[in-house]
Amino acid sequence: MKLLITGGAGFIGSHVVRLFVTKYPEYQIYNLDKLTYAGNLANLSDIENAPNYTFIKGDITDAKFLEDMFAEIPFDGVIHLAAESHVDRSITDPMSFVMTNVVGTVNLLNAAKNSWQANGAGGTSAFDGKRFYHVSTDEVYGSLHNPDEFFLETTPYDPQSPYSASKAASDHFVRAYGNTYKMPVVLSNCSNNYGPNHFPEKLIPLMIHNIQTNKPLPVYGKGENVRDWLFVVDHARAIDTVFHKGVLGETYNIGGFNEWKNIDIVHLLCATMDRKLGRPEGTSAKLITYVTDRAGHDLRYAIDANKIMNELGWQPSLQFEEGLEKTVDWFLANQEWLDNVTSGAYQTYYQGMYANR
Ligand code: NAD
Ligand code: DAU
Repeated sequence: MKLLITGGAGFIGSHVVRLFVTKYPEYQIYNLDKLTYAGNLANLSDIENAPNYTFIKGDITDAKFLEDMFAEIPFDGVIHLAAESHVDRSITDPMSFVMTNVVGTVNLLNAAKNSWQANGAGGTSAFDGKRFYHVSTDEVYGSLHNPDEFFLETTPYDPQSPYSASKAASDHFVRAYGNTYKMPVVLSNCSNNYGPNHFPEKLIPLMIHNIQTNKPLPVYGKGENVRDWLFVVDHARAIDTVFHKGVLGETYNIGGFNEWKNIDIVHLLCATMDRKLGRPEGTSAKLITYVTDRAGHDLRYAIDANKIMNELGWQPSLQFEEGLEKTVDWFLANQEWLDNVTSGAYQTYYQGMYANR
């Protein structure tokens, strides 16, 4: 099995690469990543010398590069995670989301289809033994307002941000290639991830970093928006499950039935950090600052994960409190990682996003 994983130097991708490299020594794992601000090879320093691992620096918006790479390496499978992933950045720069998430995904579909058709038998049997797995998000379903509602695989798409619109478009293209060319595709839509290596532009690592450095904790709006959180290693385990056991043409929603209001997570983090840093109880919570809301801010996401649990036997392994404790411990033990990613361009981003909010 020659397996291409895109976006493997990012937050979730690095956990997926590590899992596959260590669990499947018989596979050759190729990690294709452009190394944008979000891609960091330090995320994979523990496995970078593994004999079954190869890193390829490249850009999925470059169709010629992808065609050449597929001509050189006969991949059997693709797990596609490369994307622009931050909603706030999509509000200030939607076009880079169109380019990477939509055009990049179609380029990758074309490169896989053309190489599999060129190298395989005629007709749809050219795709025998092949698999194109597209990793997507629950944000494509839009925002829930009724507390009894959950996102099901059959929930109509209703993306509300440029990020979710770009991911929805990419999902549609993947399904269209499955339908039109009979490509062997499978998809999953996951809720919010958290854990080690999470880039500190996102809520949980940003709050951990700001608590550590005694900076204001910027809570958007009233802090009442709800997200459904899953430990990143459990998402990687689910991706392993869907890649190996998922039925072609199907979609699987991934989540841990774990909804939290933003403000409650921030309070939990404050209490956890006070305890870990030996600060008097209540110290960090004084840093909480309500700031202007995100434009078009989705109110609530909540995944119904019964399909993957019942049909494929996947279950999350951790409770949220345990996962958050592990996450805080990881950030406190990896100060150098955090210092490296919060220097340079991150400072400019932070000033632009928060200075006058
Ligand atoms: P991330 O931003 O941490 O990582 C994205 C990776 O893609 C980076 O390594 C980056 O260098 C790479 N990349 C970006 N543009 C590229 C390009 N043009 N060519 C090649 N590589 C490129 O993202 P993440 O949070 O790890 O998310 C990974 C995937 O999972 C995304 O598709 C995202 O939509 C999806 N997802 C994320 C979450 C979440 O909570 N973070 C939840 C559900 C789904
Ligand atoms: O649901 C899955 C999605 O989860 C993924 O597809 C995205 O790639 C990922 O970034 C994440 O999107 P969110 O917008 O939900 O995550 P974020 O961490 O940016 O924000 C989580 C919540 O916290 C959201 O309601 C906005 C709020 N927030 C965020 C930041 C960065 C704040 O209140 N303050 C902040 O400074």
